[in-house]
Order: sequence, then structure tokens, then C-alpha cells
Amino acid sequence: MEHTEHSIDPVQEQQEHIQRRTVLQAAIGVGVGLSVLSTLYVGVGFIPKVVVTPEKEPVKAGDILVWAQGAKAGQEITPADLQAALKSDPPFIIAYPKNPENNVVKNQLATNTIMVMQLEPSSLSPETAKYAAQGIVAYSAICKHLGCTISQWKNNVWHCPCHGGEYDPRQGAKVVAGPVPGPVPQLPIKLEGNRIVATAGFLFKPGADV
Ligand code: FES
Repeated sequence: MEHTEHSIDPVQEQQEHIQRRTVLQAAIGVGVGLSVLSTLYVGVGFIPKVVVTPEKEPVKAGDILVWAQGAKAGQEITPADLQAALKSDPPFIIAYPKNPENNVVKNQLATNTIMVMQLEPSSLSPETAKYAAQGIVAYSAICKHLGCTISQWKNNVWHCPCHGGEYDPRQGAKVVAGPVPGPVPQLPIKLEGNRIVATAGFLFKPGADV
């Protein structure tokens, strides 16, 4: 009687094993990939959208400076207001920019808080004078140290009440005292009649350097 027996070729068996393993690994890989993709897709749904309303837009060329606080809040600041402020304490005005196209005061963005002051034109450094108008200078009021509002005038310079940071408005807000890492940015301005108008955004990024 003839005895038939299926002989198993070891090389062929090993190749088939490798093929099965490759297919299995590919399937697992696709599964993992899809899983990661679906996780990312779900995650994207939870990222909050940043909505920039007109009140939160950063100051830009054409904006008019208005009173930020007090009885005149929202009204346009005039050179006469700045002259009058020199007799008060502090001798400068805190302002916000107003968009003349929609009349929206951009008061919902902290870094739009601006100090405006009338100084003697001849006291300004050439670089500072380039962005001033008849001695009127405007700078970010947000301290570069930890972000307090610079609201005082001491030693003939701007003074931050939080830790005593001081800036000289005649020299590009050069730091003259305190733990401040650098100057606050100047806002280039011009006079249009009685209006103080920004001719660009801040010269560099406003806000605390933290
Ligand atoms: S936050 Fe102004 S000196 Fe510290």
C-alpha cells in the first residue's frame, strides 16, 4: 500500500508565517492610526475658539485716543485736556483707542491701556520725538515687569505702584528704576485738529514680559 504523506517544506512554512504576521501588524497599525486620528478629531472639538470682538481689537493706525476713565470716559482727548492734566496728579491721562469707523472704544483688551502726556518737545530724544506730536507722547500703560497699570508720576518719570518700576517717557520709556526688564512700547501718534490719532500700532509688543 502506497503511503502518501504531505511533506512540509520548512522554508515555505516560514515564509507563510512571515506573510501572516506582516498582514496582522499592518491591520493593527491601521487600527492604532485610526484611533489616534479619532482622538485628535474629538480633541479639536474641545479647543475653545478665540473670538475677537471689536472692543478687543488691538490699537491700530487711525484709532483716536479717548479718556479711559472718569467723567469724560469715552470722550476724545484734546491737547487742552493734556495741558490741564499737567496741573493734576498724575499729570497724564490714561486712554483707550477708539475705532473711528464704528465708534467702538477698544476697552476690553488690557494691552490697549495707554498713557498720554504733554512734554516739552525739546526734552524728547530724537527717536522719541519721531513718534510724538508737538511734545505729546503715548505709551503702553502695562508694566513690563508683572503687568500692573503704570498709574503714577514720581521723580519726574512714570512710576509703577506695584514694585516701583520707573520709565522715562522722554527717552523711549527707558527703565530708570525697579525690577523692570525693559521699556514699554511707544505708540506713534499725530494730531488731526484736536484729535490725537495713532499712526500705527505699538512699536513692539505691549504687556508684561513673563
Ligand atoms: S509690575 Fe510694575 S514694577 Fe512690578
